[in-house]
Amino acid sequence: MIFGATGDLAKRKLFPSIYRLYERGRLEKFAVVGVARRSITNDEFQQSIKDSVESALGKKENLDEFVSHFYYQSHDASDSDSYVALKDFANQIDEQYQLEGNRIFYLAMAPEFFGPIALHLKSDGLTDVKGYKRLIIEKPFGHNLASAKELNNQIRTAFSEEEIYRIDHYLGKEMVRNIEVIRFANAIFEPLWNNRYISNIQITSSEVLGVEERGRYYENSGALRDMVQNHMLQMVALLAMEPPIKLTTDEIRSEKVRVFRALRMIEGDKVNEYFVRGQYAEGTINNELVPKYRDEPMVAPDSNTETFVAAKVKIDNFRWAGVPFYIRTGKRMAEKTTKIVVQFKDIPMNLYYQTDKMLNPNLLVIHIQPDEGITLHLNAKKAGGHLDAQEVKLSFANTGSDAMNTPEGYEKLLFDCMRGDATNFTHWDEVAYSWAFVDKISAVWQNTDTNFPNYPSGSMGPKEADELLEKDGFFWWPVTDLDVEVCK
Ligand code: BG6
Repeated sequence: MIFGATGDLAKRKLFPSIYRLYERGRLEKFAVVGVARRSITNDEFQQSIKDSVESALGKKENLDEFVSHFYYQSHDASDSDSYVALKDFANQIDEQYQLEGNRIFYLAMAPEFFGPIALHLKSDGLTDVKGYKRLIIEKPFGHNLASAKELNNQIRTAFSEEEIYRIDHYLGKEMVRNIEVIRFANAIFEPLWNNRYISNIQITSSEVLGVEERGRYYENSGALRDMVQNHMLQMVALLAMEPPIKLTTDEIRSEKVRVFRALRMIEGDKVNEYFVRGQYAEGTINNELVPKYRDEPMVAPDSNTETFVAAKVKIDNFRWAGVPFYIRTGKRMAEKTTKIVVQFKDIPMNLYYQTDKMLNPNLLVIHIQPDEGITLHLNAKKAGGHLDAQEVKLSFANTGSDAMNTPEGYEKLLFDCMRGDATNFTHWDEVAYSWAFVDKISAVWQNTDTNFPNYPSGSMGPKEADELLEKDGFFWWPVTDLDVEVCK
């Protein structure tokens, strides 16, 4: 049951993903009830699904059969009668398709409805099923720790923690899921994965697009809440966690939670030392002049909302003491890319010089998007030379070997939920710790002046983001130089 079935997310991501699962034979007995306020007919709804699948995946032969599993219910989210009608309809569909009372509720709508809908699902009997009941809930999960707690209390009245699947779509990305395998399945990495051998880790998630039509939401969110609280900190946790004793949901999540517990809390005067914020000015992207953030629709002309964040994150535990994790994310940057660079320490004594400079440190680059792969930067002898060293790169590109088979993140997440595997969804404890961390930063930012806008569109952010690393003796590895090379 998808709440918000006429919305953007349903059209762009959910319907194509359900289709892909269907096409791969992963849906045997299924029906989808689309729920939204608008009053449209079943036929119109089914047509919108065909359109969404075709625009995402191209022409498909079996669409009529596929969309015959979809039904539409016009719904008023605050009215009990509406839920009672939905319940009767769902029971009828359940019988018709022999669904054995298994039910997934997907909340793909404005966050202010999350809590009230969950309460109604319980009080109006939709969660009274003899099979399983699960709730998938989109971000944002609250706006700060207090509102996240309130929301959590509301949904916990109807669903237990095991039944709640909080989406962080980065956890559906192929290469984000690969982090743990790269780390824990390779004897050459795990022994080096600590403060004795790693000097710093850099995570960049940059976007070229601006805030587009989402000004209203973004004004109250900013890059800190929109990207750092969830996606960026999730990647930090996966890079920093201890090996789980088993690959079960509970074990993996509890290792991640231990990382969140070890995050160094940055507050008060320290915020300026560890965090940099930015807001885009106008600039040129792909030869086009784009407006500054303050000129975007539904954005205040004197807005202090940050569209860029860079930070030094410290994890105070035995493995990571002394190793900075630098993160940066922003809109209207030079490139759309997500990359992780693990920089190893310099060898104790350099015997081999490249002709005109020092040896490069070893890097392990994990390419999350748009390229998917890993690159290991090593030093080796230059062919034919005396003992000159040069940098060589060993690359593996997912796109090179399996181009068409990398499933959409949402497809994987939906499939996980159907199988009852919550590993790649965020547990309440992770949400709570990450809000507690982020709230301390927003508290300072809310009360201090800014010099916005402070980076031109099409750049890699404000100069303070570079200085953040420079004062520790590092620099951001330029993302453009790190592209994965696909062997032809
Ligand atoms: C979303 C944010 O969670 O992630 C957006 O709300 C952002 O503002 C998006 O654009 C980035 O996701 P991706 O998968 O394109 O990196």
